Amino acid sequence: MKNNRQRIGESNINWVEAALGIGKNRRKTVGFGAYNKKTKEYEDEFYIREMSIIDAGIGCALWDAAIIMTRYIYEFGDLIFKDRKVMELGAGVALCGVCAARFASTCYITDLPHLMDNMKFNLKANSDFDETDENTKCKTEKIKEQKENMQKSGKVVELDWYKIYNEIPKAMEQIARGETPILEVPDKCEIIIGSELTYTGDEKTVEALMKVIDTFMDEKGVFLEILSDDRDGVSYFVDQITNPERYNYVIKVFKVHSRYMGNFGTGQRDET
Ligand SMILES: C[S@@+](CC[C@H](N)C(=O)[O-])C[C@H]1O[C@@H](n2cnc3c(N)ncnc32)[C@H](O)[C@@H]1O
Repeated sequence: MKNNRQRIGESNINWVEAALGIGKNRRKTVGFGAYNKKTKEYEDEFYIREMSIIDAGIGCALWDAAIIMTRYIYEFGDLIFKDRKVMELGAGVALCGVCAARFASTCYITDLPHLMDNMKFNLKANSDFDETDENTKCKTEKIKEQKENMQKSGKVVELDWYKIYNEIPKAMEQIARGETPILEVPDKCEIIIGSELTYTGDEKTVEALMKVIDTFMDEKGVFLEILSDDRDGVSYFVDQITNPERYNYVIKVFKVHSRYMGNFGTGQRDET
């Protein structure tokens, strides 16, 4: 993880360039593992297509926090995420969920409807490979196994937090009765992840998010969120989710270790 750095812009993988196309949708290659100065390649890479802010709003692009969280998932994947049911909330362009899907038994990658196609695209761009093709073959046997796992585990599912008050409970009841639900609903998960979810000071949105976490969290589950602690919704989220009259969670807040921060060049703040 020592030399992890984000390379933004042109990918050096031709097939991905071809697949991602050109135009308003930007693409990023995010490197993991050791960096080889001679070949200028990382040991491992993820490819992420971003959208325009006009088409996709706040979830159009990769937030720095998502890259930092993905470094953690990448490092501890076998230890923490392996064979677990995982869900990413508000996934945006889906980097964290795509990485978690390499390890998880199921990884639901969720967000609002207008982001579904791009998230599906990014899941596929990172799980497809062809061992007979120099351009798409996996760099190691381990990566091949992880991509095979990802093809089975990765599921892009629409999950609007506001549907937790009506449609989602209705669909859950329908599933319990053996009926076809009005919408697809993920199973309860052992790990729920999210990056920069409590960014808004709009308490209604934070309330909906907390209810989603509470609904989909397994009894002994954990919710891992990474965020800048100066975001507007953080204090309300922490106050409410730790209120014993409302929820029964233990909360731990810790500063991200510097080895995950990398060299962003985007003014990443210390407290992130
Ligand atoms: C600040 S962005 C972070 C995106 C991504 N996690 C990242 O770090 O790159 C917040 C994400 O929350 C999603 N979001 C906001 N309100 C939502 C809602 N009501 N239901 C589901 N997702 C929502 C947005 O679409 C967006 O993708």
